[in-house]
Amino acid sequence: MKDINFENYWDYIDDKFDKLVDEGYLKFPSIANLDLTKIDKSISKQISSKTYNELQDEHKKFIQQLLLNEVLAPKLLDFAKNEFGYKGLISNQYHIARSAKPGDRKYRAHFDSHIFTLVIPIRIPEAQEEGETNGELIFFPNARIFPKNPIIDFFGKLWFKQYSSRFGLRRLSKKKSININSFRDYEPLLFLGNTVFHSNQPISSKAKSHRLTLLAHYFDPFPNSSIGSILRRIRLR
Ligand SMILES: [Fe+2]
Repeated sequence: MKDINFENYWDYIDDKFDKLVDEGYLKFPSIANLDLTKIDKSISKQISSKTYNELQDEHKKFIQQLLLNEVLAPKLLDFAKNEFGYKGLISNQYHIARSAKPGDRKYRAHFDSHIFTLVIPIRIPEAQEEGETNGELIFFPNARIFPKNPIIDFFGKLWFKQYSSRFGLRRLSKKKSININSFRDYEPLLFLGNTVFHSNQPISSKAKSHRLTLLAHYFDPFPNSSIGSILRRIRLR
């Protein structure tokens, strides 16, 4: 099994930031050469039966192996500062392991709070029959423009709530271009989580395994704004 040199793996993005802004997403070279079966086992044994799991030691170790903090995060930080006027810290990150089981049918499409979302595929079940869905990422690049302040951010999210269900997504696909990514190629995907509206397809109950992806979210431009504090601010005016 060949290893991947993560010292320069992330350089792939260096001349593609314009493409990232234009298209809303970008795919990195496949990580299928890694021993993903072993990584899946070690991460999965530390996670609960919930779909979303906070950062645990094995997940942390894998992030270190990928050199996310040393190599990728500084590149993203520079870009966030220049392109989006991000003023926060490099440590403003949120890592979760998403483990979905066969039969999982929830949609809940949304925008992330963070500027970038990196999806690292670890275990992706194969479709057993044609037309079967297996947790594919459904996303609408540039569904909205980057919110300039937390109030625009909040109302943008509120407006898109009407599209968060399965039927809502179908409606939205008539107006905006829809992308579907299976991750069967094991290519990590970086997207602008704050402007790309996204969700996952259900996982067929016939799927042979769970579906494990690691989600790394970088840089919340409005870290101190909750719905409550926004409403409070509006009332104070
Ligand atoms: Fe998300």
